[in-house]
Amino acid sequence: MTEQDLGIELRAEVDGLVRQLKDCLPDIIQQTDNRTALAPNAATVLANFREPLPQKGSGAQVTIERLLELNETAGGNTGGPKCFHFVIGGSTPAALAADLLATAYDALTYTWVLSPVGVEMELQALDWLKELFELPKEWSGVMVTGGTMANFVCLAAARQWWGEQHGIDVSEVGLAGAPQMPVLTSGFIHASTLKVLAVQGVGRGNVQRFTRDDFGRLDLDAMEAALQALDGNPGLIIVNAGEVNAGEFDPVDDVIRLARQHNCWVHVDAAFGLFARLSPRTAHLVEGVECADSVAVDGHKWLNVPYDSGYSFVRDYGLMARAFRYSADYLPDENSAQATPGAIGPESSRRARSFAVWATLKAYGREGQCRIVEHCLDIAAHFADRVRQTEELELMNDPQLNIVAFRYNPGGLDDQALDCMNEELGEAVLSDGRFLAGTSKIGARTVFRPAFSNWRTRREDVDEFADVVLEIANKQS
Ligand SMILES: Cc1ncc(COP(=O)(O)O)c(C=O)c1O
Repeated sequence: MTEQDLGIELRAEVDGLVRQLKDCLPDIIQQTDNRTALAPNAATVLANFREPLPQKGSGAQVTIERLLELNETAGGNTGGPKCFHFVIGGSTPAALAADLLATAYDALTYTWVLSPVGVEMELQALDWLKELFELPKEWSGVMVTGGTMANFVCLAAARQWWGEQHGIDVSEVGLAGAPQMPVLTSGFIHASTLKVLAVQGVGRGNVQRFTRDDFGRLDLDAMEAALQALDGNPGLIIVNAGEVNAGEFDPVDDVIRLARQHNCWVHVDAAFGLFARLSPRTAHLVEGVECADSVAVDGHKWLNVPYDSGYSFVRDYGLMARAFRYSADYLPDENSAQATPGAIGPESSRRARSFAVWATLKAYGREGQCRIVEHCLDIAAHFADRVRQTEELELMNDPQLNIVAFRYNPGGLDDQALDCMNEELGEAVLSDGRFLAGTSKIGARTVFRPAFSNWRTRREDVDEFADVVLEIANKQS
């Protein structure tokens, strides 16, 4: 094949692909409410999926047909109305369309000159998000892949600050020879934050958790005593605004006030909890967050933009720039006149997540985002009522936000037996496939913890979820 042949052949394929996408995309998008939450025979379908690298490919059209068939029979419908697993949002129509376009344009937002509009949309959308969440407008921000990387950026800035307090430029000389960085938090700390501390050389085992019960709620007095013991030495406090098992919060305002009497960086992991700010019913849960030093928030959860999308907000641009410094003679860097998000965050080359975030905020505004949040709060409240009214279901925590912890409890069994029963039931609900929803633990107890973060979820969906849990439980017993 000559160089010219390759160009001719691939360009010719484009026409066929456009027709194929025109045929299938409308259906895929319009059937989002109806596709099964989790294809029940996925494991069987995928048993023989692996194959040696094809010597000669099958061509684009056949390959895409195969992909469509595979997704129908072995996919998950995480964007659909019946996915309550982990904390997973949907996509608004505007965000979905914009994200498809970001891929169609293959837009790249390392620096302004590669996609002036993509970078400007990022800066604009980050400013809008600060306005939406009432964070100080002088704060710096960057878009990343999700909550984990949002925590990564914030904690890299925190580590840089902490090093500078000791006269060390950690990004230049590393941590060797430095004292151990004190990290204080509650039992609500998320696994992703521990992962970040592990890879940043702080160590997941170096986290001091101050808890007053087996759920992990913060013991503020014990934290205060530990802060006194630091005697002015710098430390890091991680505040957890929205934990994953019942949607509870550390007392954000109290912790930040306490931290301000000591020499501490306060980071708030508010991956989904920051959205509490958008409703007068829940805003008190994150009161004071604007006085932190950094905040991590997710977009693919409650903003309802497609995967992947998260945002780091940091009080001081300079710390982000020093932590992620990225330069070479051919590259613009953090000091260049052209905005270069790739120089103040972990990714250098990066897709234009900004398209979807800008589009959803432009399309629906503050009012639209507030309606999505309140819709999910209403759904959670409705589901909690359904649990309260159902004899065989037991509410396991007073729901504060969008997560409802409950268990199946037919009566006459002790906690251990109920834990086993609910674990098995959790597996059975997942293999059934009508809903994506798993179990977790509150203290020692096993609970279902459906999280409602998608505008698509309707009351009838969550009523059906309760019915399905009962139906499967009755079959099992
Ligand atoms: C509180 C919290 N922090 C961080 C994360 C990690 O986010 P991601 O999976 O988007 O990286 C999650 C995910 O559920 C979360 O709930």
